[in-house]
Amino acid sequence: MGNPYLEGNYRPVEQESTLFDLEVTGTIPAQLDGRFLRIGPNPVAEVDPRTYHWFMGDGMAHGVRLREGRAEWYRSRWIKTPALGGPPGVRYTIDSLGANTNIIAHAGTTLALIEGGVSCYELSDELDTLRAADFDGTLTGGYTAHPLRDPATGELHAVSYFFGWGNKVRYTVIGADGRLRRQVDVRVGGSPMMHSFSLTETYVVFYDLPVVFDTDRAVRATVSRYLHAPARLVLSALIGRISIPGPVSALMTGSGARAGHRSRGRLKPNAGLPYSWDPAYPARIGIMPRQGGANDVRWFEIDPCYVYHPMNAYDDGGNVVLDVIRHDRTFDRNPNGPDEAPPTVDQWVINPTSGRVTESRVDDRPQEFPRIDERLIGKRHRFGYATGLNNDMLITDLVKHDYRAGTSVVRTFVPGASISEFVFQPSAPGAAEDDGVLMGYVHNAATDRTDLMLLDAQTLDTVAAIHLPTRVPNGFHGNWAPTASD
Ligand SMILES: [Fe+2]
Repeated sequence: MGNPYLEGNYRPVEQESTLFDLEVTGTIPAQLDGRFLRIGPNPVAEVDPRTYHWFMGDGMAHGVRLREGRAEWYRSRWIKTPALGGPPGVRYTIDSLGANTNIIAHAGTTLALIEGGVSCYELSDELDTLRAADFDGTLTGGYTAHPLRDPATGELHAVSYFFGWGNKVRYTVIGADGRLRRQVDVRVGGSPMMHSFSLTETYVVFYDLPVVFDTDRAVRATVSRYLHAPARLVLSALIGRISIPGPVSALMTGSGARAGHRSRGRLKPNAGLPYSWDPAYPARIGIMPRQGGANDVRWFEIDPCYVYHPMNAYDDGGNVVLDVIRHDRTFDRNPNGPDEAPPTVDQWVINPTSGRVTESRVDDRPQEFPRIDERLIGKRHRFGYATGLNNDMLITDLVKHDYRAGTSVVRTFVPGASISEFVFQPSAPGAAEDDGVLMGYVHNAATDRTDLMLLDAQTLDTVAAIHLPTRVPNGFHGNWAPTASD
């Protein structure tokens, strides 16, 4: 049986690459001094196509170094977990799976990120795995793949989840110095997969939606067969209700070696995902004042759906506006990936006074990977960029939305192109909202090679194409990491 997440440009590459002096068409803007980073799943070993889930593949980071108009190098490196010869994970997190979801630069280091209580790792500038990422020892447990950087302070805000924490998720603020400065544990309805969150200038926004830890799938993935029934009973009594002590959840998830034990049950990389759609779980959005505590969260019920990725959020008078990519459902019938229903570009407006949530559709063409000019995180944006999906749910083109005008334009690429998330970088700190470049990978099926494309964000015309003599498999998130000026 085929698995689409192992075919075409989803197919893993078999080796790490180090390539210098890349061929370029066009002109790389001279002000781009840094690295274009992107990460995704890339299983090291042969995988079982019947059970492989795209979210569960070993992580591989990709980087292209730009300087003075040249593309100096391309590197790809696996995130080295203990099983791959790397350093131990953060204490009481899952370190049997490598970080594969997002890659950012913060406080002078490169961070490979993942969610759900799995260890994140610090990488060198050249993408070698250095150590587990615990923010100078200030953060216990796992983090998330989707922190948001407050443009006013440079701090990283985030909401993290882990099934071992009972019915709580954790809001954190990491300072510009790379250390935790604030943490609030917030009660939710159970043990949801909270892939991301939103931030306005006054609120933290929680998406408590009906994808929850699935004890049945978890037991099948971690425990030997003769223990299935008792393990399932114990887990279903605990998960999403009470906090499980760190050493116990470590044993359940395979970071036992770090805790002084070698666990038999491990959350297996390159296997199934232990989360699934639960139609009985109420879908809610929560808003908490940024300076508030757990008791200040207000919840608003919405129709069942799932949001992996908000575009942005902002305050509008007393209302809270959420621009999101909405999936009708996910992980219900398809056990291998998130492609169950065509995702749409939607807007929710919460009126905290009346308690009313108004939903409207911005664009019903399937899209994902929304990004904005990140100088506007938490503020009203005019432009948003998302990738368009074709009928086979393959990501093929780029859509620029003008929220003010209510219009959009589409940039297509070569026939058979498969593209990644595009990331905006302004041409100067004070440049206008769409004055800059969009950067992203485009895979050409005919040549089986990938170009890093630089587009003019105003026109979506090509500014430069950096031709890699290899391919970068379809993956998750990317970011521009400017060279530190200090
Ligand atoms: Fe994501």
